[in-house]
Amino acid sequence: MLPPGSKLPPIVQTAWFMADAPGVFERFHREYGPIFTVRYAGFPPEVYVTTAELAEQVYRTDHNGHGHAGAARRDFMEHLVGAHSVLTLDGEPWERHRKKLNPPLRAKQVAGYRDDIAAIAAEKIESWPLDRPFALRDRMQEITLEIIIRLIFGIGDAGRVRRLHELLPALIETGGAMQVAMLPERLHGIAARVPFSPYGRFLRLRAEVDAMLFEEIRRRRAAPGGTDVLGRLLEAGLGDQEVRDELITMLIAGHETTATGLAWAFERLLRMPEILRRLPDDEPYLDAVVKEVLRVRPVVYEAPRLLSAPLRLGEYEIPAGWYAGPYIPLVHRDPAAFPTPGQFRPERFLEGHPSRGWMPFGGGRRFCVGAQLALLEMRVILREVLHRLELTAPDQAPEARRLKNVTLAPAKQTRVIARARTPARAT
Ligand code: HEM
Repeated sequence: MLPPGSKLPPIVQTAWFMADAPGVFERFHREYGPIFTVRYAGFPPEVYVTTAELAEQVYRTDHNGHGHAGAARRDFMEHLVGAHSVLTLDGEPWERHRKKLNPPLRAKQVAGYRDDIAAIAAEKIESWPLDRPFALRDRMQEITLEIIIRLIFGIGDAGRVRRLHELLPALIETGGAMQVAMLPERLHGIAARVPFSPYGRFLRLRAEVDAMLFEEIRRRRAAPGGTDVLGRLLEAGLGDQEVRDELITMLIAGHETTATGLAWAFERLLRMPEILRRLPDDEPYLDAVVKEVLRVRPVVYEAPRLLSAPLRLGEYEIPAGWYAGPYIPLVHRDPAAFPTPGQFRPERFLEGHPSRGWMPFGGGRRFCVGAQLALLEMRVILREVLHRLELTAPDQAPEARRLKNVTLAPAKQTRVIARARTPARAT
């Protein structure tokens, strides 16, 4: 039996999803129960599961080889990340790349970046406006982008850093735009020749970024070493094109996601003064707060697998060729995994091992490779901001969740007003 789902035509389901993604999933969950099918125009049907137990069963397909996370992402991402990216590979090539990417991003390794992250944050915070509202998410993105450029790409030259701050957001924006990401491959040649086409602009930006990255790779091969991730990947024996693809992969997967996680952290905390008061110096509590924020406001809403064999989930059988994945915001409200799921309670992460249903970074073998770096960034940046500034929300109403590529971001980008703290509190 197939999981239930709406009878609305796929084009209507797609339009509804684009207009109000969280609303659609919550409605289908209410109507059809913990497992349901969504049909998007032009794609195979996707089955969403909403309990921790069902999500684990889906992640198990990473182990038996029937679930393909790479294939589920390839069509949207390969033009950006290239053909040698852990995001879009599966099987043996994925395994080979993942083994090279894991070591430099382990908790112990990234802990060495703590002071650099704090220094980057401190410098950027200096330039924030005081006493008038601004969008915090953009400021977070400047910080997380600088972290990628300096600590992952290992680029420190001020001129190049500045140029990359212009190029990389433009590359991601044009590369993620529908007209480019959804352009069928057979039309790439024609689109590239149309003057001023979005695809042509994307190709020009990509060429300029690639030239900078290849030059950096050449330079670093001549002078090996360094503590940045680029240096470690070169030592691990990846080829130039493979290293370029993995650098762009970390940029795409790691900078907007972390910035959005931080934006949600501030959006939530500014509406919970009793929790904010206990921050930021109690490190275990800060860590628990970050994890609880990612539970109640997971940034990435799904982690789909393209199935190459039928998947049995309880009384249902999902056919090969369909997608299956958790809808993470609802898994995080599964009362079997999180008692009193509606309450913001960081303590749940201090009272022993957190629930196995916590999956802001996905799960199975494809679990986010950058999770430890992201958590460290969130703790350090929260701390730097809270030490320097007193933030308030100009409007106390919670910000809605708005779909932004594969993330759910605060609709108003986390509007805040910053005031300088008294010198006694500053570090
Ligand atoms: C708060 C920030 C972040 C969130 C919420 C997040 C979330 C995720 C999720 C949900 C997945 C999919 C996992 C799955 O399919 O089961 C993923 C994969 C991935 N993430 Fe992250 N991520 C974050 C930060 C980062 C950072 C900082 C990096 C790199 C520096 C990174 C690199 C990657 C890569 C390379 C993958 C693909 C892994 C694979 O398929 O083997 N992410 N992330």
